[in-house]
Amino acid sequence: MHIYYFSGTGNTYTIASTIIETLRNHQTKAELIMINSQTELNNSKDTQSEPICLLFPINAHAMSPFIWRFIKNLPEGQGRDILVFYTYNSSAAIGEPIQKILNRKGYNLRVLKGLQMPNHLIIHEDEIIDNQKRYEIGMQITTKAIEAYLNGECLIDFKTDGSKILSFFNRHTSIIWNIMRLFTKLEVQKNKCMDCGHCKIQCPVSNIIYINGSYQHKNNCQFCMLCMSNCPNKAIRIKDNDKIKLVN
Ligand SMILES: Cc1cc2nc3c(=O)[nH]c(=O)nc-3n(C[C@H](O)[C@H](O)[C@H](O)COP(=O)(O)O)c2cc1C
Repeated sequence: MHIYYFSGTGNTYTIASTIIETLRNHQTKAELIMINSQTELNNSKDTQSEPICLLFPINAHAMSPFIWRFIKNLPEGQGRDILVFYTYNSSAAIGEPIQKILNRKGYNLRVLKGLQMPNHLIIHEDEIIDNQKRYEIGMQITTKAIEAYLNGECLIDFKTDGSKILSFFNRHTSIIWNIMRLFTKLEVQKNKCMDCGHCKIQCPVSNIIYINGSYQHKNNCQFCMLCMSNCPNKAIRIKDNDKIKLVN
């Protein structure tokens, strides 16, 4: 199975790892591929019959534009099995559009599941809900879904929480993303930066450059928070905003 995934703050990666482990327990090989703005599905002849698993986090009621681009650019499925998992906190009206686009492209949608996970970007400490429980439930559901698939079953099970309109706009226009870019700018704090370059290498949309001896964010941030989450010295913060914290 080819597992295409993206994870900014780690939740979706946990689910991808659960899938790999479940497949391994059932003697099924898996390859993990992280999606970035250049990723295309491997559709070579020898892989065309391999099932695909797609995993991504919900961002701004939809998903970061580079992930939507990947889904939109998927080649014709020709009956190929596809399993989709998305992780979210509370509002994601994405199940139906995913179902629609994959059916239209001719994929055989075998699993579609939204998994409720913690949100690591918080304003108030009391937003930290029972994170550990959500992980455990998410991993259990994932294991069951994969085993059901391996047993020939189909699991299409998602809730349409949240606004369909916002989800539509954030997939099809850049209005909200541009507004977010105006008010939420990420910056590398020079006094904390260790010059390791992790943020620049990992940014899925190449939005970080090294200029005049420091790392700087350009203006195409897609708010995946991978840079902030993975910085070894927690040197990245939201500019002029000490209230929003990343807790993971
Ligand atoms: C910038 C940002 C925006 C988010 N927007 C939403 C949202 O609109 N709806 C929602 O349910 N969760 C939202 N979340 C929560 C994430 O979808 C959730 O934490 C997800 O599991 C993150 O996956 P990851 O850790 O693999 O990146 C958001 C998180 C971040 C960091």
